[in-house]
Amino acid sequence: MSIPALRLGAVTLPNPVILAPMAGITDAPVRRMAVRHGAGLVISEMLASEALLEGHPEMLLRAEGEGVSFHAVQIAGNDPRLMGEAARVAEAAGAGLIDINMGCPAKRVTTGAAGAALLRDLPLARAIFEEVRGAVSVPVTVKTRLGWDEGSPTAVALAEMAEACGLSMVTIHGRTRCQFYTGRADWSAIRAVKDAVSIPVIANGDVVSLADGPAILAASGADGLMIGRGAQGRPWFPGRVAQVLAGRMVEEDPPLDLQRDILLELYEGWLSLYGTTLGVRQARKHIGWALDAAATGQGNARAAFVERWRKALLVLDEPGRVKAGITAAYDELMWRAAA
Ligand SMILES: Cc1cc2nc3c(=O)[nH]c(=O)nc-3n(C[C@H](O)[C@H](O)[C@H](O)COP(=O)(O)O)c2cc1C
Repeated sequence: MSIPALRLGAVTLPNPVILAPMAGITDAPVRRMAVRHGAGLVISEMLASEALLEGHPEMLLRAEGEGVSFHAVQIAGNDPRLMGEAARVAEAAGAGLIDINMGCPAKRVTTGAAGAALLRDLPLARAIFEEVRGAVSVPVTVKTRLGWDEGSPTAVALAEMAEACGLSMVTIHGRTRCQFYTGRADWSAIRAVKDAVSIPVIANGDVVSLADGPAILAASGADGLMIGRGAQGRPWFPGRVAQVLAGRMVEEDPPLDLQRDILLELYEGWLSLYGTTLGVRQARKHIGWALDAAATGQGNARAAFVERWRKALLVLDEPGRVKAGITAAYDELMWRAAA
């Protein structure tokens, strides 16, 4: 399978596999690690435009681009003027691409008529596209879902509008807003969007194995793919999918000693980004996911292993003890693998 390079305005991505923005998860340490392991693009967690303009500390942490050479920022909101302003602020702070969130299903976002709610207000979506496009010189992209519900596959109309307004790429999560995260993403439904526009279309939803990479592209006809939950605890995963698309044979996951080193380096990253107290807490879910990924070779013993180490590690507050525990958990797995 040979995949043409993805061109977004003046920007060409090294490969078409993108780490999805996930609020509270794909923070700067994770994004840096994903890029280092070969992701073609990483996007900041969603930033509420108003909060970004107010200089809210959480938004500044989310926008953190240090260590990522090409830094993309996702903005959310429903006021075209404020979103244009927020895009300008992000560009001035070094963003090389602005992504607009029109897919978030969360009630607190959609009741404010932002995120996926914009699928029900195309005139407002157009005003946002025009304002943001006019505010910055870097490429502007949009991430959305198939539609609000099954009866309204609005993604096609939204993508056509995005193209007409000069946006450079559209990403489609193959679910409707009303599905939230239930059921399976419908990869083939993304094809209607691909057929309707000539800007790059990115397919997203439920890519969790290397084989899913070529499969989502074949089913959707998309130009690239985006990976979210499949990369939780596995920041190397998008890069490995990119390798598969380039025709190379790779293992699903790196060796355990490398997985351990990656987790320990991420841990240092969280401590330095958030400070010790918050960093220790922020790291906990990632440690759980990483241990789960590391224990894939354990068959029936996997769940018990993960549970035991989660219980041991996720109650600790002292970083030195957490790091020693991580090392011991991976030592145990390597010892078992060698036995
Ligand atoms: C915890 C969580 C946070 C998310 N945050 C964002 C976000 O900030 N912006 C966004 O566009 N999508 C967000 N998403 C949606 C993902 O980017 C992605 O579209 C979705 O998870 C489907 O892809 P996946 O099956 O590969 O995870 C989030 C998803 C999850 C599970």
